[in-house]
Amino acid sequence: MLTTLWLLLSLAAPLLGFYASFNCPNEKQCQKALLSDNDIFLPCNTSGAQWYFFFLQDKTSWSNEVSSVPNIEIISESGILIRNPLPSQTGFYRCRDKNGIQVVQYEIDFQDVSTLHITHKGLGQKPLRNETLSLGGEELIFTRWEPWQGCNRCGERGERKRLGYCYIMEPPQKPVPCWLYLGDMKLWSSRMRPEMQVEACQVPCQTSTLDVITFDNFEISEDSGSVWLTCPQGSIYRPILWEANNIPLTWQGQLSNQDYNTILEPTNGGRQLRVFEPAVYRCFVKQELVARFNPKPVPDLPEILSQDARSVLKALKLMLLVGIVLGLLGLLLKLFHPSHHKRSNQVLLVK
Ligand SMILES: *[C@@H]1O[C@H](CO)[C@@H](O)[C@H](O)[C@H]1NC(C)=O
Ligand SMILES: *[C@@H]1O[C@H](CO)[C@@H](O)[C@H](O)[C@H]1NC(C)=O
Repeated sequence: MLTTLWLLLSLAAPLLGFYASFNCPNEKQCQKALLSDNDIFLPCNTSGAQWYFFFLQDKTSWSNEVSSVPNIEIISESGILIRNPLPSQTGFYRCRDKNGIQVVQYEIDFQDVSTLHITHKGLGQKPLRNETLSLGGEELIFTRWEPWQGCNRCGERGERKRLGYCYIMEPPQKPVPCWLYLGDMKLWSSRMRPEMQVEACQVPCQTSTLDVITFDNFEISEDSGSVWLTCPQGSIYRPILWEANNIPLTWQGQLSNQDYNTILEPTNGGRQLRVFEPAVYRCFVKQELVARFNPKPVPDLPEILSQDARSVLKALKLMLLVGIVLGLLGLLLKLFHPSHHKRSNQVLLVK
């Protein structure tokens, strides 16, 4: 039941707090580097908001309304949700109130997550080094790191990650996210990539308050031999932990090729897990258990049907079968004892 409920909920208007977001410090204008392919919510708290965009790469004009972009959803009086943003959607997003007065403008660089450079401190892997560019002056390309996210586990050794974005600096100017700096200029450098760094951590536990969602049916596909599990509320911008039969699945294990039976999807920070074997999989967001995926023998009904629906269906099938048998029995009795009308009626009444 909860599975269906969650599916319905996630299809309905997006719940605030469910999606990663950020605040503009001065609430008027801000520049931000983010990752492509990871949902993000841009707030604008005004009634009758009108949103416009300007994509740097296509040199689109400001007259474009956000409502014409298929992966952007306007959530009235609160903001916009950009699902799976593309690197080509790097640019400016402007929110105006109903009188046409600008409320906020976001300058967003959606850095290409498919080029994410992942390193683990525990494995001695090093982040990218600073480099210089010569586009006219002396530009420095470097990674600007976000703060470390929380530890993904408490009470015991866990892992934490931080994201780093490509920035270009041309002193004395302030650093600018790479693709906002370049605009529509086509330039390729292997240094121009976002990064993710992981390290071990250990913190004490606090009490949990979240409701746990149980997914009691998932199937390993016969074709691929695997299935993707998605952690609700998970995001590359939040700490996530997966466990298989109570054993944590770590980036360290994956990056050193120790975990063969699962794959944490790097491009969404492990929000999705690819599994090849039935087991009890649990996911935690900010150390709190949010979902449990229980194993289930391959069912013959669509995944969406919950356990309850299936047992109801089974009961219906059984009733139908009993009905048919009784019906046939009645027919037979009628055929062989045409005089006993009363009895056959009685038999049929049993149904
Ligand atoms: C939106 O603005 C109103 C009025 O300024 C304020 O009361 C409300 O808390 C704000 N809502 C959010 C989600 O920030
Ligand atoms: C790279 O450049 C940034 C920005 O100037 C600086 O903060 C950082 O320390 C540099 N890193 C290295 C390894 O030199």
